[in-house]
Amino acid sequence: MNRLLTISLLLLLPLGCRGEREPWADKATVVFKHGKAAGANTIKELILRFEDRNPDIRVIEEILPATTDEQHQFYVTNLEGRSSDFDVMALDVIWTPEFAQAGWLDDLSGRLSDDEISKFLKGPVVADTYNGRLYAVPWYVDAGVLYYRKDLLEKYGLDPPSTLEELVASARKVLEAEKDPHLYGFVWQGKQYEGLVCVALEFIRGNGGEILNAQGECRLNDPRVTGALGFMRDLIHKYNVSPPLVTTADEESTRHTFGLGRALYMRNWPYAWNLFQEQGSEVKGLVGVTAMPSFSDNTGNRGVATLGGWQLGINKHSRHPDAAWRFVEFMTGYESQKALAIDAGYKPARTAVYSDPELINKQPFIVDLYPIIASARPRPVTPFYMMMSQVLQSEFSAAINGIRTPRRAVSRADRQIAYILELSRLWKQRG
Ligand code: GLC
Repeated sequence: MNRLLTISLLLLLPLGCRGEREPWADKATVVFKHGKAAGANTIKELILRFEDRNPDIRVIEEILPATTDEQHQFYVTNLEGRSSDFDVMALDVIWTPEFAQAGWLDDLSGRLSDDEISKFLKGPVVADTYNGRLYAVPWYVDAGVLYYRKDLLEKYGLDPPSTLEELVASARKVLEAEKDPHLYGFVWQGKQYEGLVCVALEFIRGNGGEILNAQGECRLNDPRVTGALGFMRDLIHKYNVSPPLVTTADEESTRHTFGLGRALYMRNWPYAWNLFQEQGSEVKGLVGVTAMPSFSDNTGNRGVATLGGWQLGINKHSRHPDAAWRFVEFMTGYESQKALAIDAGYKPARTAVYSDPELINKQPFIVDLYPIIASARPRPVTPFYMMMSQVLQSEFSAAINGIRTPRRAVSRADRQIAYILELSRLWKQRG
C-alpha cells in the first residue's frame, strides 16, 4: 500500500502541488543564445511579441558575455560536445563558414526563397553562405565609422577629416588649444582581440593593403600594410593623439570615454550613436558620424569600413528546429529589424528598412550611413578565419605596442598564415 502511495505521489509531482500543469508544458521551448548587448530591452520586447503571436512556442533567452571572442569560445566548446541545450544562436559574421564546415548549423537554404535572400545586404549573405548553402540569416550589420565632436570642430573652424593625416593635424590643433588634460584626440579599439583586427584592417585597406588577395594568397608582407600598422603605433607614441589606453580598449570602453566628452574622435560601430543621444548623455546633440578616413596618397579611396554584424543560426542538434526557424524568421524580419534600428541603433541587414520613413525621421544620419554599410568589406570569408585572426591579433598588437617592428610582425604573421592556408588547401582536397 505504501509503495503504491509513493508511486502515485511521484507521478503527481510534475503536475505541481495543486495538480496544475506548468503553463508551458505543451509548448516547444526555443533557447536563444546571444551576447550581452545594448539592445537588450528591445530584444526582450520582440521575444514577448513573438510569443504572443506564437502561443505554441516559449522562448528562453540566455545571455553570453559581450565580446565576440568569449562567445566563440563558448560555442566551440559546447557545439563540439554536440550540446542541444540551445536552439538559436547569434553568430558573428566571421563564424558561419567555420560552424557550417564543422556540421554545427542547420542548412537553412530550403527555408528561404532566392527572392527573400535578395532582400538582405550582399556582404552578410556571402558571409553566411558556405559551399553554396545558406547557414544563417543576417540579423543586423556593423560597419566601422568615425565619430566626431561637432562642437569642438566648429569651434576651431575645422571640417570632419577625410584623410588620416587631416585627422592627426586637427586633433593636435584642438588638443593644443584646449589644454585639457582630460581630453584625448582619437580613441579606437586596440586591445588584443577581434576588434583590433577590424580596426587595423580599416587602416590597412585605407592604405591600399589587404590580408589576402582575390586569389586567397597572403598579402601582409607589403609596405602598405607595415605603413598602416606603423601609423597606428605612431598615433600613440609619436603624434600623441591617441592615449596609450587604446592598446587595452574595446568598443564599450572607448564608447564610455567618448560619451563622457573625453575624446574628439572615436572609431566605433554605429550602435554607439543612439546611446549618445539618450537623456543625460554628456555629448547629446554634439556628435557627428562620418566614414573612416583613408591615407591621403591612396587615390580616391574614401576609407573602407570593416563589415561586422550578427546572424541567427540554428543548432544542428536542436530538438525543435521548426519552432527555432519560426523564431529566426520573426527576429530577422522587417518589423524586428526596424524595431532594433529605432530603439537600439542596430543597423538593419534588410536593405528596405533603410528607406523606412519612420526610421529616417528618427535617425536622419541613416541615409549617409547606408553607402558606408553597403560598401563595407568583410574579413576573409573562410572556415579558417578564427585561426588567422589569432595570429593577426597577437602580431598587430605587438606592432602597435612597439614590441616588434611592423615589418617583423607582418613577416611572422605571413609565415603562420601561409601554414593555415596550406591546411585549408589540404582540407579542401580531402573533400
Ligand atoms: C562587433 C561586430 C563583429 C566584430 C566585433 C569585434 O560586434 O559586429 O562583427 O567581430 O564587433 O569586436
